[in-house]
Amino acid sequence: MDSIRIRGGKPLSGRIAIGGAKNAALPLMTAGLLTEQRLVLENVPQLADISTMASLLAQHGIAVDNVTDDGRSLSLGGAISNTEAPYDIVRKMRASILVLGPLLARVGEARVSLPGGCAIGTRPVDLHLKGLEQMGARIDLDGGYIHASVQGRLRGATIVLPFASVGATENLLMAAALADGQTVLANVAREPEITDLADCLVAMGARIAGIGTDRLTIEGVDALHGATHRIIPDRIETGTYACAAAITGGEVRLVNARLDHLGAVARTLREAGVEMTEEADGLLVRRANGLHGVDVMTEPYPGFPTDMQAQYMVLMSVAEGAAMVTETIFENRFMHVPELNRMGARINVHGASAIVRGVSALSGAPVMATDLRASVSLILAGLAAKGETVVNRVYHLDRGYEAVEQKLAACGADIERLSR
Ligand code: UD1
Repeated sequence: MDSIRIRGGKPLSGRIAIGGAKNAALPLMTAGLLTEQRLVLENVPQLADISTMASLLAQHGIAVDNVTDDGRSLSLGGAISNTEAPYDIVRKMRASILVLGPLLARVGEARVSLPGGCAIGTRPVDLHLKGLEQMGARIDLDGGYIHASVQGRLRGATIVLPFASVGATENLLMAAALADGQTVLANVAREPEITDLADCLVAMGARIAGIGTDRLTIEGVDALHGATHRIIPDRIETGTYACAAAITGGEVRLVNARLDHLGAVARTLREAGVEMTEEADGLLVRRANGLHGVDVMTEPYPGFPTDMQAQYMVLMSVAEGAAMVTETIFENRFMHVPELNRMGARINVHGASAIVRGVSALSGAPVMATDLRASVSLILAGLAAKGETVVNRVYHLDRGYEAVEQKLAACGADIERLSR
């Protein structure tokens, strides 16, 4: 299994190209199930999760082909030949659940293994299932599989989510696009990735009002057609490299980054002492003077994203003073804490909150990556630390970060991948 070795202490300086958003690309790929015509997606990141989704779609009968040599434009098309999403693929990636709504809406049937994904809590899918039931689907759970079916078409309904789940919003939105009549989805998530999906569905002929708000009204149509859609830049990759620049006391241009998608991340980092300046082609990030502790609580967008919590904690580990970091989205998402403490951080966890007391320096150590965002947080810690850090078990990293070691090395980091 690969590991990544970092010799820390070098300020980053240079340019980093921000890729297309993984969490937009995955639901957009499943939107390919909604039409018999060709859907072309541009600015697709090259990640293990994208390949996993392509394999899943292929076994449903949807071919995913490269349109350009760089692999960043994908064409999706084909007839649905199989409605089963098998355990072997779904266990690798929780976003596989997003085939459920499209398959059901398009062909009236789906059998999807209950998902796995990152080990960051129980992560049920009850909101997806309840919403689809309200639209007339019959749901049976059997042998670890969700079996969903509907006589004829799904029916429009008014569905109020008790919690603004990103995945449930996406699944129900895609199902509603092809349902009979009007669907109102209330208290939905409004992450930029959901807006991106809604924009693409509209380009495919869907009728959706309220895009970008917590209430979506969808008038179902008989069929969707093909379209070409460009995926938004990855706001979590942006935030991660902004933390990297600040942690090392460097100055980095994040090319293609969008400040307006950062929500509370931009506000919090600025308050902590990170300068972020919007430029014509992205964002310039540098540390102004010292960093100081600022409390955060993870929340649905536009609040502080749970996917930035681990990286932010590393930033706070080298800031002056203390910061309280509260995780409200996932239980069990502090698995990076013991590893950071082995590198000299001073973090105490009390239930869903962690107190991070800043230290003057971290020190390199061998550490173990546990989930996607935890993995990258250990890389950030390694960049800031004195001496050598080896991050083991980095396969999670490859699910969500493209060419991380190349991007950082190009800005002067001493980092390399060790393959075994
Ligand atoms: C998506 C993101 C993930 C991010 C998360 C929260 C993708 C591919 N993944 O995951 O990176 O961390 O949003 O911003 O976009 N929940 C239920 N029942 C449900 C659905 C969710 O209880 O039916 C709970 C989950 O257990 C969790 C919380 O709601 O505690 C948030 O989940 P959700 O917003 O659905 O996240 P995902 O779509 O899985």
